[in-house]
Amino acid sequence: MLFRPASIRMRMGMRSVGTHSRRCLPNMQDGGGGGCSLLQSRWKSSLPQLDPVDRSDDDNNGGDIDWDNLGFGLTPTDYMYVMRCSQGEGGFSRGELSRYGNIELSPSSGILNYGQGLFEGLKAYARADRPGYMLFRPEENARRMQVGAERMCMPSPSVEQFVHAVKQTVLANGRWVPPQGKGALYIRPLLIGSGAILGLAPAPEYTFMIYASPVGTYFKEGMAAINLVVEEEFHRAMPGGTGGVKTIANYAPVLKAQMDAKSRGFADVLYLDSVHKRYVEEASSCNLFVLKGDTLATPATAGTILPGITRRSIIELARDRGYQVEERLVSIDDLVSADEVFCTGTAVGVTPVSTVTYQGTRYEFRTGEDSLSRMLYNTLTSIQMGVAEDKKGWIVAVD
Ligand code: COI
Repeated sequence: MLFRPASIRMRMGMRSVGTHSRRCLPNMQDGGGGGCSLLQSRWKSSLPQLDPVDRSDDDNNGGDIDWDNLGFGLTPTDYMYVMRCSQGEGGFSRGELSRYGNIELSPSSGILNYGQGLFEGLKAYARADRPGYMLFRPEENARRMQVGAERMCMPSPSVEQFVHAVKQTVLANGRWVPPQGKGALYIRPLLIGSGAILGLAPAPEYTFMIYASPVGTYFKEGMAAINLVVEEEFHRAMPGGTGGVKTIANYAPVLKAQMDAKSRGFADVLYLDSVHKRYVEEASSCNLFVLKGDTLATPATAGTILPGITRRSIIELARDRGYQVEERLVSIDDLVSADEVFCTGTAVGVTPVSTVTYQGTRYEFRTGEDSLSRMLYNTLTSIQMGVAEDKKGWIVAVD
């Protein structure tokens, strides 16, 4: 059933969030988070300001949006979801939808001062067979957020809370879900230390938020193959660091390399491992696969590689097709001698790589109709868009 305004209020009134609680906060010392009694008053001042739900302009389906030319720019949608957790509360609770808009944060919040935050990315697609939407493996995003939260000393929503919140966000922003084949509603969950803190310690309060935007292709090349360059000066991650979790702090440090590469006509860079400087890791925004013969290899997720959900799905789909898939160290020699190279991620989908430039030499790879990446792209998107049967149980219906 398609979403109707009243159902937001009803669902929120009946909400089952808050019943799932995980012990909320790392043990906070006085010099860090402050006592729990202080929290309630601090908390109020740092809450995002929530407006009442108003869907008076619902008939304007998608506004003036040009569905045929969606890129990856932000199109603000109607609603966001906000849920909080502070010390002394058993877990996240009181999740609710509010009008999409700016939030209020203390200048001394954990996220602003110490980068205590994580994000996720997932997509909702319009159904072809009936009204409603489909999510691709949202529980995996929830689990990855939990792993990241543990690393970043944050409490995290339960899987049920996370998926419930994603569904609510999709339903409330249903008119922004692109028509079949035109793109997807990109959903961006954020988990941030929103409480005020001066000394270096976990924040005393956390906010989980979700906003969404309709998107098309990530790279400006659209569906075409991209050109990458191997980055030799900057590294994305190091052993023992946070490269294996989706912390917000992993992303600003790659901007310099990415911008330099873009100014030279490349879509993105490929990072090398920071110890040996000879194993490829991933690009700024996606995982990497290299195909040689019938063997598909991708860097193993041993702490410096983001465990992508698209990555894991592609491994499974390639094995189903009879390819040998190896998660291992992938050397620069493996890369330059590959038949095919492609990138995977929620935002980029499965993007073929036509060339990689390394130390001034440009290496070319197979792309196009007969490539494995095209076959995997077709298989994956058919499942995601409900065109192919979901034999793996990866799709979660939202209606
Ligand atoms: C995603 O693929 O969802 C990501 O989080 C990558 C981001 C840099 C757009």
